[in-house]
Amino acid sequence: MLPGPTNVSDRVMQAMLSPVINHRSHDFAELHKNVIEGCRYVFDTKKADIVVLSSSGTGGVDAAMQSILDPGDSVVIPAFGEFSSRLGDSARYLGAKVIAPEANLGGLPNLESVEASMKQAPKVKALCVVYNETSTGVTWRKLKELKELANKYGSLFIVDAISVLGGDFLPVDELGVDVCITGSQKCLAAPPGLAILSFSEEARKIVMKAKDPKSQYFDIKRYFKYAESGETPYTPALPLFYALDEALKIVKEEGLERRIRRHAVCAKAFYDAFESIGISAHCKNLEERSHTVIGMVYPKGIEDQKFRSILSEKFWILIAGGFGALRGKMFRLGCMGEVNQQIVTATVSGIANCLKLLGYDCDPSRALERVWSALGEPTFDLKS
Ligand SMILES: Cc1ncc(COP(=O)(O)O)c(C=O)c1O
Repeated sequence: MLPGPTNVSDRVMQAMLSPVINHRSHDFAELHKNVIEGCRYVFDTKKADIVVLSSSGTGGVDAAMQSILDPGDSVVIPAFGEFSSRLGDSARYLGAKVIAPEANLGGLPNLESVEASMKQAPKVKALCVVYNETSTGVTWRKLKELKELANKYGSLFIVDAISVLGGDFLPVDELGVDVCITGSQKCLAAPPGLAILSFSEEARKIVMKAKDPKSQYFDIKRYFKYAESGETPYTPALPLFYALDEALKIVKEEGLERRIRRHAVCAKAFYDAFESIGISAHCKNLEERSHTVIGMVYPKGIEDQKFRSILSEKFWILIAGGFGALRGKMFRLGCMGEVNQQIVTATVSGIANCLKLLGYDCDPSRALERVWSALGEPTFDLKS
């Protein structure tokens, strides 16, 4: 139940047993084409160029930033947690001037402060945001308004959707996202190791205009060129391409809308269940609570390391703790990919019983009742 990497189905794992083929062959071109089509479906785009990199999500973020930014460019990158700070770092390392309106951990900057930041430089090249801040469990459901701000100031709109794409609403064409980045290991329920990026027509133009690439491996122009013949410039992680292809087929079979709804329903079940036993969400604003990363505040007296090791050793459930200033104060769990009724039930049961074992006064059956009222009665027979 980590907020990535997440559980991977046997079907996807088995896809990785396919033979290691020549990546300069018709077979790979076919696989590449299917993967790109599957990605277009989850990014909900007809127009964007898709690039799949054999790298983790951070590689995708670096590639996006390198392909768009030049030293001295101004960018606005709101900071409200670990991953939005890292997004700012990626731009800073390239020599960009980063303007970072901030918010308390667990909240979001307001649109006025973002606009005030957009006014701080004569020309802001890009407004870059983390859609789902994995370190705090907050989702910025104001992408439309943020895009309007980007338009108003003639800036590109770049979105890190690593811990959310495939698990919440993000139609990149409709929202006008110029560059969107995700990772294979989160809501797409594939193994870690691939970053997927979409580029709008506008973003593509900027990439194509760039002179010297800032790195050989992340030279997106080269990826565009090789994609014309169904290839990648460098040797792709073939087993992961097979896995992603299968994972994307599963998304299509379920249907994106149903998948997004399943994430929302499971998230509500988690929040309701924990709150029923007095554990409160780290994000106080209901509108901003993530449907893919559930962040809850520890009750008094529960020690993070001890709780998570007992949960892992006795209940076989792996969850994550907090980052930086939130270390020891909260736990986070992934409500991603394969998450379903049984998984939510088992996780809530394990967490509530583990808390009780550690002396926290709660009634685990109360939490389970909340799960069932959010999700419906379990499909398995409780008495057998
Ligand atoms: C929002 C966000 N951005 C970036 C990353 C970094 O991704 P990776 O660990 O795959 O490099 C993560 C990972 O959890 C993330 O959640």
